[in-house]
Amino acid sequence: MQITPVTAAIGVDITDVDLASADVVQVAAIRSAVVRHHVVMIRGQQHLGLDGLEAFTRRLGTPIDTPYVQPMNDRPDVVRVVKEADERALNFGGGWHTDLSYLAAPPSFTLLWALDVPTYGGDTMWSNQSAAYESLSSGLQECLQGLRAVHSAGLPYGPGGAYDATQKGRTMTILPSAEAFAEQEHPVVVAHPETGRPALFLNSGYVTRFAGWAAHESKGLMSQLMAHSLRDTNTCRMRWANGTLAIWDNRATQHNALNDYAGFRRELFRTTVAGTPPVAYTG
Ligand code: SIN
Repeated sequence: MQITPVTAAIGVDITDVDLASADVVQVAAIRSAVVRHHVVMIRGQQHLGLDGLEAFTRRLGTPIDTPYVQPMNDRPDVVRVVKEADERALNFGGGWHTDLSYLAAPPSFTLLWALDVPTYGGDTMWSNQSAAYESLSSGLQECLQGLRAVHSAGLPYGPGGAYDATQKGRTMTILPSAEAFAEQEHPVVVAHPETGRPALFLNSGYVTRFAGWAAHESKGLMSQLMAHSLRDTNTCRMRWANGTLAIWDNRATQHNALNDYAGFRRELFRTTVAGTPPVAYTG
């Protein structure tokens, strides 16, 4: 198995492994690469199939479902992420976010297996939220350690939200619900549950404000921190190929599915692995 970094901050390509027959040593090496490098692209898994994707997901932990998105009929833990060549709807996962951060226990890992990707465009970007935190000044780090943030799925998944407003012509079935407006507080700086490394647990998709602050008061600091997270020194941009399986660590990343492939279809299959409630980093 070959592991090749893609940027200095985040992301590796993995080749020369067959996930359908990977042994325990190989699975442990992949898991540790995900935790260390935050996102891995495992190449050449065309033959994996949905049974293989589900089986490999279970080797990393317990699968959980994705609220407000219709799963596959016979596979409640698998979401088919698809946009047809002539679709003009907002793409699923477009915009920086951390998967399901609005849950009390957000998922540890997400897996995304590519079946049919565009000839060009349709890349995904990730940010390293640990590198982002560690490159802030010690004064701002200390200040952020005392803060909590409010997460909610309301803006994208509430009635009248971003996906509801763009349902027309969408192949995927999004299930907008008033329940999406439920709020969940998490620490702004979390300790990674496996390494203890601090990470900025903030994302543009689901954080509505800092706890105890008004939304308009939160906006300035949030924008500044998001711009910092998304600097090129903290991010990578990954190119898909049919058969690539991406695995990322939601406890230390944000990601953004780029919507720059008009005229091509893009079809991938996604699973998520249960995580634990985020715990504050206290230095
Ligand atoms: C997602 O956010 O789960 C989708 C990412 C992608 O399609 O690249």
